[in-house]
Amino acid sequence: MIKNLLGLKELSAEDITAILDDADKLKRDVLLSGSKKSNLLSGKGIITLFYENSTRTRVSFEMASKYLGATAANMSSSGSSVAKGETLIDTAKTLEAMKTDVIIIRHSMSGAPHLVAKHVNSSIVNAGDGMNEHPTQALLDMMTMREKKGDIKGLKVAIIGDVKHSRVARSNIYGLKKLGAEVVLAGPSTLLPKRLEDMGVKVHTDVEKAVEGADVVMGLRIQLERQKKGLFPSVREYNKYFGVDSRRMKLAKPDAILMHPGPVNRGVELNPDIIDGPQSVINEQVTNGVCVRMAVLNMVVSGKRYQS
Ligand code: CP
Repeated sequence: MIKNLLGLKELSAEDITAILDDADKLKRDVLLSGSKKSNLLSGKGIITLFYENSTRTRVSFEMASKYLGATAANMSSSGSSVAKGETLIDTAKTLEAMKTDVIIIRHSMSGAPHLVAKHVNSSIVNAGDGMNEHPTQALLDMMTMREKKGDIKGLKVAIIGDVKHSRVARSNIYGLKKLGAEVVLAGPSTLLPKRLEDMGVKVHTDVEKAVEGADVVMGLRIQLERQKKGLFPSVREYNKYFGVDSRRMKLAKPDAILMHPGPVNRGVELNPDIIDGPQSVINEQVTNGVCVRMAVLNMVVSGKRYQS
């Protein structure tokens, strides 16, 4: 059982499957139950510590904590003593001193949650660290794929866009490869890091080749906040050559699903006709985010699998 969740690189296929199985059960027993209440984490304290903006991840961790009966609080770097110069480690130790059982961290520096985990005894959950990993996003993506496709093994998953800056892509590659999927990446060569093939994936600069015959098409957000200028000529040209629209979606299998971690830049990486179309499971990904986060919090706090 895991004490911290720092990345999917460190987890086995069995650990990942256990979290996904627990998330399925917690969806049925808690989220979709009439009361949305459980006392699984009653008496536990959980704090989100976010140094970057977030809607889905932060709110769904808070909702997951509350649905399981924990006491939850949120802290952002802006408006806190971080703005007065307090260090990351001192901030984490301060939160731990409040008898906090879990600290959930989002930070622009790759490895920030790993560093904190060496200095505090509270469980640490990575909610996105720089360009490294976003493990709970990949877990909710895999939960959604399993719901829609039955099994991850043998699926062709096409991940399209700004792979270079994407912690979502990296966590999905680790998780999907461990569970036996074929992963194909595509984007402009300036947004595809070197040696991606070493991770066991196929790489294309032609989106249509990547999407052809896919079971799952996943668009990635263009991460302008992490990019240098000049990685593609213009947003309009990016959309023309690398955006996913209904014409490109038709190259995938007829029952393929469309995913995106959000937030979506409408008309850039995905066109509005498919974002809101019948193949889109983007809102179901958000729902499953609450379930995966309940499963992870239960596992790191109790050290046990969820029992119905
Ligand atoms: N997918 C994701 O991490 O979204 P937020 O930045 O809104 O949390």
